[in-house]
Amino acid sequence: MSSPTEPDALVAAARRAADNAHAPYSGWRVGAAVTFAGASGPPFVGANVENASYGLTLCAERAAIVAGVVAGHRRIERLALSARDADGQPVPAIVPCGACLQVIAEFAGGDLEITIDGGGTLRLTDLLPHPFGTGSNGPRRGR
Ligand code: THU
Repeated sequence: MSSPTEPDALVAAARRAADNAHAPYSGWRVGAAVTFAGASGPPFVGANVENASYGLTLCAERAAIVAGVVAGHRRIERLALSARDADGQPVPAIVPCGACLQVIAEFAGGDLEITIDGGGTLRLTDLLPHPFGTGSNGPRRGR
């Protein structure tokens, strides 16, 4: 029996979350599962929630992260992503969009591992080497 913090269990949680995507426009179902430092219990999950205005669409990653942050957590330990396209086919090449990367970087270090369902493991720093607001390049004042 694997623990919910192991990558395979986290990927499975992301895959289940994708089932609840609201994706009537793109047909893509994306799920994310996130573990936070100090959080016990199951991972926080999210799915993409599309909107008729298109631009207000919320990605799975941000939905999951916001759930964890609202529960009081601040440090992401691991993130898994699972996606299926409009034909229901797995998308092992998916990567978080730029907006999600910036939000992930708010709560994670560059060494964060992002595990993709059916794909490899990516490192945050390789996807977003220069996030806004860390170090001296932005207005961050602490939490
Ligand atoms: N989407 C996500 O939820 N996460 C990503 O990392 C990339 C894209 C969603 C947004 C939209 O509902 C659909 O996938 C197609 O872009």
